[in-house]
Amino acid sequence: RRSIWLSRHGESQFNVEGKIGGDSSLSPQGLKYAALLPEYVAKFSIGEKGLTVWTSSMARTIQTARHLNCQKLEWRALDELDAGTCDGFTYDYIEQNFPHEAELRNNDKFHYRYRGGESYMDVVRRLEPIIMELERQGDVFIICHQAILRCIYGYYHNLSLEELPFINVPLHTIIKLTPMTYETIEERVTVPI
Ligand code: F6P
Repeated sequence: RRSIWLSRHGESQFNVEGKIGGDSSLSPQGLKYAALLPEYVAKFSIGEKGLTVWTSSMARTIQTARHLNCQKLEWRALDELDAGTCDGFTYDYIEQNFPHEAELRNNDKFHYRYRGGESYMDVVRRLEPIIMELERQGDVFIICHQAILRCIYGYYHNLSLEELPFINVPLHTIIKLTPMTYETIEERVTVPI
């Protein structure tokens, strides 16, 4: 039986500053997560041999995977939801300066598309080839981003589209999903930093 492991990148500089999007590097805490990851991958019986790691094309996911000694693949389709003209802002800043946009997103987070960017619906569409490829693969460890992981997680747990934007995917946590015939079994390990 094969499993899919999921993790967000380690804490990034933008996470620390509360800014969305961007292509920042890992924070000191995030770097610790990256350094501890091989040990936890081994503990969680992933076994680096035969495991493929998929990251996005963004620096923070590639840095998170850096110490893992296995085959790696970068996918642009795994990049974080594009916040368009709001990229690099904090939620507070958006609320104060673009209250109408904030309200629209609040009213329908799944369908709301950032100006010049994407919605969760767009992300679900761009993940289709990823999901198809996953079906043909063995054990894969996906290291990417909050919004993207919500969609992948929701797919394997059969959640409704409207639920996706609200799924809790914490930092520094490895989620193991094992799809069975009628359900997906889940295990989690949080890496103490
Ligand atoms: O804050 C981290 C982050 O990954 C942002 O880059 C991204 O815009 C956001 O989370 C997605 O979460 P939400 O859809 O809840 O704003």
